[in-house]
Amino acid sequence: MNIKELQTFEHDVLVVGAGGAGIRAAIECAQQGLNTGMISKSLLGKAHTVMAEGGCAAALGNVDKRDNWKIHFRDTMRGGKFLNQWRMAELHAQQAPDRVRELEEWGAVFDRTPEGLISQRNFGGHRYPRLAHVGDRTGLEMIRTLQDFCVHKGIHCHMECTGLDLVMDDGKVAGLIGYWRETGRFVLFKAKAVIFATGGGGKAWKITSNSWEYSGDGLGMAYRVGAELIDMEFTQFHPTGMVWPPSVKGVLVTEGVRGDGGILLNNKGERFMFNYIPERFASETADSEEEANRWLQGDKEARRPPELLTRDVVAKAIKKEVEEGRGSPHGGAFLDIASRLPAEKIKKKLPSMYHQFKELAEVDITKEAMEVGPTLHYFMGGIRVDSDTQQTNVPGLFACGECAGGMHGANRLGGNSLSDLLVFGKLAGDGAADYIKGKSFGNIDEQQVQSVVRRATDILNREEGPNPFLVHEELQELMQKNVGIIRTAQELEKGIEELQRLKIDIYKVKAHATSQYNPGWNEAIDLSNLVITAEAVARSALLREESRGGHTRDDFEGEREEGLTYNVIVKKNDKGEMEARRETRKDPPHTLAGIANATLEELEGGDG
Ligand code: FUM
Repeated sequence: MNIKELQTFEHDVLVVGAGGAGIRAAIECAQQGLNTGMISKSLLGKAHTVMAEGGCAAALGNVDKRDNWKIHFRDTMRGGKFLNQWRMAELHAQQAPDRVRELEEWGAVFDRTPEGLISQRNFGGHRYPRLAHVGDRTGLEMIRTLQDFCVHKGIHCHMECTGLDLVMDDGKVAGLIGYWRETGRFVLFKAKAVIFATGGGGKAWKITSNSWEYSGDGLGMAYRVGAELIDMEFTQFHPTGMVWPPSVKGVLVTEGVRGDGGILLNNKGERFMFNYIPERFASETADSEEEANRWLQGDKEARRPPELLTRDVVAKAIKKEVEEGRGSPHGGAFLDIASRLPAEKIKKKLPSMYHQFKELAEVDITKEAMEVGPTLHYFMGGIRVDSDTQQTNVPGLFACGECAGGMHGANRLGGNSLSDLLVFGKLAGDGAADYIKGKSFGNIDEQQVQSVVRRATDILNREEGPNPFLVHEELQELMQKNVGIIRTAQELEKGIEELQRLKIDIYKVKAHATSQYNPGWNEAIDLSNLVITAEAVARSALLREESRGGHTRDDFEGEREEGLTYNVIVKKNDKGEMEARRETRKDPPHTLAGIANATLEELEGGDG
């Protein structure tokens, strides 16, 4: 292919991914007068951002004045089991309130307190009601607002376009090759900087809240040009996904249900979470029904119910109940809001959940309990970035949102993803704008373009090969079984070994027919990123010999002191092979360590 014949766009900055983080980054670039392009694998507004239903965490202090950024920071570090990048957690807690207010100025219609302020609800691991929300459709409202705002900023949004690979010039990013999903034609984007906001790779697992777009594209593309991935072993299993009927297994049931008072029960009717309170949270969590009920009735001094422990704790508790024979009929736990709130209130506060269960499971949640179980929801690990600028180790490549790692440590608190994407979307836009100052477009090397195009067209042109859909199913089975909620060295080693075999299949898959409207071809292309993502998770998980947050090793129970001293870094080595290594962490800044370890009384009140 001659690159002169290739459809070409030029943008100062190209943002890949049009979820909340991508749109927020693009807005920042456009506000700074840059020619900004954004590509979206599906349609603008169709993003995993909408799966953060219950709210966006920011210490606005509207519902409880004692809240402030320091307590949000402390909660985030504790939730992340102290493995978070300290500076990222600091920036996030400090800047989240401004980003939420800014979004309100741009038109987001949040629920209100009686005084007319943005209302905030409770969520797991957050000390105070902190989640600004719009019923149980917060992510949707945020995307709607960002989308409307970005359209008016003149951002060029290229929809139904998938990124294939970055084009490099002398070690720096010079652009990206993609293809239009509709026509199958290739397209070149020349750019001085590229921001990845491509989300996670949940589609490598069988039971997930992620939809088809989440195939680790940014992770795969970044890895191929030498970017580092950090702490990929930390994958979040949200405790409450639907478990029945089979067609919707994994679909999210918002934590807002528990935030608004919902309780978890086993098949004996026992409120089992009281049996799973870890020592670290014992002083803040109610250990009796009576105290948990006081909390529900609005007693601010009462300790929080154990259903609002962090997600890793709740997900593992449900798994254990099921394994020990106390699960619900379809292998989950019961989530009951019907006996806790009047029907009208449920419909008002949780309208999507009401309709979701009515329509998909024929369950009326105002009368009956839901059946729920863990579902792969989020990657805490991702592309390694500089905290302030979001730049990766590859010059000109930036990353933000779920595809960037480090902010959430070993476990993310619910609601912190929406504030993360606002805070770090903006910072990535700033970072890219600074980086391109005085820079011109790089050279586009024809050979690189040709080899990317050939890799894609080979899938159509080879005579025969495995079916991409079947290979994907095999990958999902393998990951669910060997790299699931509870892991062992033996399973992880087996998983890695099977991935090597599958990798060969993935590079030989055959899609039939032409490149137009060809789901088999699209699937085959996604597989190359999914397998890198899957292998990075499995290799990192093998190296971390302890249990911490979203990573649990049956053969290394509990947190080990040594676990806090390193991050796991994955990178392609000189031979083109994947290498995972432990890298020693720096000591935290004194002031931040002080805040993370302070008592609540020391931090409450004022804005810190
Ligand atoms: O449960 C939820 O609404 C999900 C929120 C999140 O992942 O942040």
